Amino acid sequence: MNQLRLNNGVNMPIRGFGIFQTTNPNICEQSGYQALRTGCSLIDSAVSYSNEEAVGSAIKKSGTAGDELCIKTKPRVQDAGYGNTKKACEKSLNRLQGDCLDISLIDQPFGDRYGSWQAMEELYQAAKTRAIGVSTFQPDRLLDLILHNTVIPVVNQIETHSYCRQRETQQFLRESNIQIEGRNNIFKHAVRGSRAQKYRKPLAQSIVRWLIQRNVVVIQKSVHPERIIENVTVFDYALSEEDMGAIETLDMKHSAFFDHRVPETLTFISGIRLDI
Ligand SMILES: NC(=O)c1ccc[n+]([C@@H]2O[C@H](COP(=O)([O-])OP(=O)(O)OC[C@H]3O[C@@H](n4cnc5c(N)ncnc54)[C@H](OP(=O)(O)O)[C@@H]3O)[C@@H](O)[C@H]2O)c1
Repeated sequence: MNQLRLNNGVNMPIRGFGIFQTTNPNICEQSGYQALRTGCSLIDSAVSYSNEEAVGSAIKKSGTAGDELCIKTKPRVQDAGYGNTKKACEKSLNRLQGDCLDISLIDQPFGDRYGSWQAMEELYQAAKTRAIGVSTFQPDRLLDLILHNTVIPVVNQIETHSYCRQRETQQFLRESNIQIEGRNNIFKHAVRGSRAQKYRKPLAQSIVRWLIQRNVVVIQKSVHPERIIENVTVFDYALSEEDMGAIETLDMKHSAFFDHRVPETLTFISGIRLDI
């Protein structure tokens, strides 16, 4: 129940831990260690989070065996393209202190993503990464990547929560045999108290349960030990069909932070301004 089988046969835990914005290396190492010791073996890192070394140290300190881990990373948008992506993945491997990356993702659908994917396919074929996937790809860009390449991504990490459910995207991913993985500021929406109260569970757990019951891999960031435990301890109850449906009605069908289709998003993420 806690593991999902990806389209290439690799297992991925349905509960994960995020480290975005945990920039202090000591805090990152400590919270990563705590998550691993709590049994959360999926860690979502990225070059742009500037804390891969701390993740490597947390892994070492925790003593978790390599085959029990699922560590993800993503080169920066600025590393898009064949040569840069290869170099970036090699450097990530060094910082994470592993022999092989578990899952490598293209972080955003921007820049030379075909060059990036070619590099990732080669790293995958050379057993430098056990699986490859993408993040924040809309269905059209994802389908384009699939149709013009060999390896189908194992996962697409997107914003998905009760206020931006992405029903059609999840359907498309299911049909394409690509695992949906979700994130984004779900704890900011403290509206679902009554459902949580009904089950005598913290709101955070009710949010996580809803995602897990939708078959979404959930990743959360916290630097607080009690929250890390709370976020992982979600397998002892289930939301009823009725409550799942009630939460469904909260869907506003738009991003709670920013839309990747809006030109300003590309300018912001890539750091490149168009001078015309
Ligand atoms: N690929 C991408 O473009 C992308 C973008 C954004 C995020 N991500 C990944 O997704 C992960 C999660 O990001 P997110 O935006 O969804 O953040 P999140 O996990 O929803 O965390 C948001 C905030 O909620 C707080 N929190 C955590 N557990 C809580 C609990 N039990 N009760 C109350 N508050 C709690 C945390 O604060 P404390 O730390 O103070 O507890 C955190 O600052 C990131 O770390 C990153 O790995 C990927």
